[in-house]
Amino acid sequence: MTAGPHLPNDLQAQRAAFHAELERLSIMPLWLNLGAAVQSEPRVEGVPHIWRWRDIKPMMLRGGDLITPQEAERRVLMLINPAFDRKSARTIGMIFGGIQFLMPGEIADSHRHSPSAHRFIIEGDGAYTAVDGERTLMRKGDYVTTPAWAWHDHGNDSAQPMAWLDGLDLPFVNLLDANFFEDYAQGDHQRQPILRESEDSLHRWGRGLRPAWQAPARSDLSPVLNYRWTTSRDALHALRHDAGSPFDGIILEYVNPLTGGPTLPTLSAYLQLLRRDEHTQAHRHTASTIYHVAEGGGGSRIGGRDILWEEGDTFVIPSWVEHEHWSTGGEAVLFSYSDRPILRAFGLLREAASGRKD
Ligand SMILES: [Fe+2]
Ligand SMILES: [Fe+2]
Repeated sequence: MTAGPHLPNDLQAQRAAFHAELERLSIMPLWLNLGAAVQSEPRVEGVPHIWRWRDIKPMMLRGGDLITPQEAERRVLMLINPAFDRKSARTIGMIFGGIQFLMPGEIADSHRHSPSAHRFIIEGDGAYTAVDGERTLMRKGDYVTTPAWAWHDHGNDSAQPMAWLDGLDLPFVNLLDANFFEDYAQGDHQRQPILRESEDSLHRWGRGLRPAWQAPARSDLSPVLNYRWTTSRDALHALRHDAGSPFDGIILEYVNPLTGGPTLPTLSAYLQLLRRDEHTQAHRHTASTIYHVAEGGGGSRIGGRDILWEEGDTFVIPSWVEHEHWSTGGEAVLFSYSDRPILRAFGLLREAASGRKD
């Protein structure tokens, strides 16, 4: 509502004075800002975007020469949506994605933080990550979880650079003013002690069995540290003759074996296979997604724009933007993660096939 010319002058003046007085009290009348509260569908600020591995990799290697992990805390190239503030730590929706890399012989000291994290390994073979007393060797395609407030550090004992996609719920945690961080450093010790055998969590909780004498520490977090690429990929291919999802092809969610739910309370992660010549139907949903191309090539039509991708690329699909995917020249495997658990928890998850409103 605005003070139109048809209003008597004295009423216009009274309204202007009233609004000015409200502003001094840090109060905003709804009728002057109706759009912020009332909208027929989401007005999404983030835009579809792709970061290409052929652009990232040379920058990663230059970064390796120019700055140490100790100087950087974590040497991460943050993928910030072009529509967002450079310092927002926001890639799309309530999720963040960044490329972290370690050169041979480097370590990243232990720390912990209230944002939840997970990683998908892009390149390299044999660097380790340690989370709450357990170490795992990371290989290309592995999916590694790092729950909120878990101590974690990384080290690259291999002869090649190691790179992975870091996924965090940073925008959500920042929105809630709940971001805490702590360095482990205790005297000369920069790294947490290792308390269990490698792969202990996988043997204990990740094979469809559980130790009958032991209760899990928590059930809302996946106790499995590393979901191996070979296992996940085999599972995808074992289901390749299934119809799968009309919108995603053969898609599997990484789950917490204790609940069947997402691996982390705020993040859900998926691996999907687009078979040769497969072209999915279009749909949209309020979950925002970060995609990473694990194998092969293809494209996605996102909001009417075609984005072609190849192995190593990372792209985003904003909330409520229609999208469809296809493989090109063979099969493609996509890793993705989204803020779906947050939306589901608060009754805000909405999905619609192309051409339908809900
Ligand atoms: Fe971290
Ligand atoms: Fe989708």
